[in-house]
Amino acid sequence: MKTWKALAVITAVSTSCLTSTRSLRAAEHGDKAHGEAWAAVKQVVAVLHATAGNKCHGTVRFTQEGEAVKVVADIEGLNPGQKHAFHIHQFGDCSSADGMSAGGHYNPDGHQHALPEKEMRHAGDLGNLTADNDGKAHYEITVKNISVAGMKNPIIGRGVIVHAKVDDGSQPVGNAGGRIACGVIGVANTAEKK
Ligand code: CU
Ligand code: ZN
Repeated sequence: MKTWKALAVITAVSTSCLTSTRSLRAAEHGDKAHGEAWAAVKQVVAVLHATAGNKCHGTVRFTQEGEAVKVVADIEGLNPGQKHAFHIHQFGDCSSADGMSAGGHYNPDGHQHALPEKEMRHAGDLGNLTADNDGKAHYEITVKNISVAGMKNPIIGRGVIVHAKVDDGSQPVGNAGGRIACGVIGVANTAEKK
């Protein structure tokens, strides 16, 4: 009788151990599959729409190139000949008319604000767009402090904001004024020829 009880206890304990090991492995497998699925995303895109009372709009593509991310922006509806601050913001939320729902600068490293010349800066600090005489800007920058959808400061699902004024690099957010366009960063359709 004693032997049977002991055996029952051992069986129960070993079964529960097996179960917890198995669910841990399943979780690890799930994490790996999840990570691999996102790592396969090599390009993301934000389509920017004007905030209330503004006419700025355009497209920004972010492409993972090894450890770096190449950013290519084509924006119009800017003030001709003027510089406009250009940032990734914390939230991919353009639901408010003034773009404030996108939150502050994307800053997972807890750094101070700066222009891209400085290595220590918010991950979202992409510098300035420079508008031509038609109010259009083409801007390219390659940065190493973010990833498209990887482990290092992933930007997928965050927001992109163009501001009314120049980012002068000052604290806390570059004195860049209002938000004239807002977009959400999503998975790009790379099958379409761009
Ligand atoms: Cu901004
Ligand atoms: Zn910043």
